[in-house]
Amino acid sequence: MASVLDPELKRALAERVRFYNELGIYDFYRRDVTPVADETATVNFIQPEQREEMSPRKAAVAVPAAPDENMFEVISSRPETGVSDPIKALKLIREDLGDCTRCRLAKQGRKQIVFGVGNPEAELMFIGEAPGADEDQQGEPFVGRAGQLLTNMIKAMGLSREQVYIANIIKCRPPNNRTPERDECETCSPFLMRQIATIKPKVIVALGAVAAKTLLAISDSMSNLRGRWYDFRPAGARSNDPNWTSAKLAVTYHPAFLLRDPRQKGEAWKDLQMAMKELGLKAPKKSDV
Ligand code: URA
Repeated sequence: MASVLDPELKRALAERVRFYNELGIYDFYRRDVTPVADETATVNFIQPEQREEMSPRKAAVAVPAAPDENMFEVISSRPETGVSDPIKALKLIREDLGDCTRCRLAKQGRKQIVFGVGNPEAELMFIGEAPGADEDQQGEPFVGRAGQLLTNMIKAMGLSREQVYIANIIKCRPPNNRTPERDECETCSPFLMRQIATIKPKVIVALGAVAAKTLLAISDSMSNLRGRWYDFRPAGARSNDPNWTSAKLAVTYHPAFLLRDPRQKGEAWKDLQMAMKELGLKAPKKSDV
């Protein structure tokens, strides 16, 4: 029997979905349940991180069954959905991000959003923590001192910056380069997840503890996190390529840490060699670097 959804509930639902879209969350699952007596009951949306752990049924959004076919017209897909050209898809993600004010960093002195740079079809992606002063100034990740070291690390692998893709967990500079807060990472990282799902890298190298812990959602020491592969699926973002579901992720030291403790460069090189082996790369001769 067809039942008409209370317009007030429909409006509230549309508002809520728009709110989640604003945060970069687009995929919702619907579970048919027996209509509840109180139609204003809270709608439970499951966060993408939890969804990763759950079967689609468990992750379903509990909303009353509604034969009204237009009910979900408010649930838009991500703008890049179905866009096969990664350059265009990244542009759409950037446009969706807009002049972002989703977290406090927008009002704490950032000059510009630092989206990411490099090959939109890169096999290798580096993910750091957050833009610093130089990056905030130039709008490009890893262009300061730590960035110069990263560029040299990339060259030592026989690659150029243009061949890889470089991004950060968060896209705005935190004041005084403080460590990003957890909620800032949670607000911003869905956009990074969409970038990853668009680029579809074979290998991701997480630079430092903030990148590693945010991407892997585990808290451990760098020494425990390094030296192994993780199967990485971007939470809440699906690639349009059925052949790409995940990347291999390795953790290494942040270049800023290596500048402070150069003795660890050998350890970082071991991590990069692991990535090179996976990608079938050979280190160039010293004279070619
Ligand atoms: N440190 C980072 O983590 N990212 C940058 O872009 C620059 C420095």
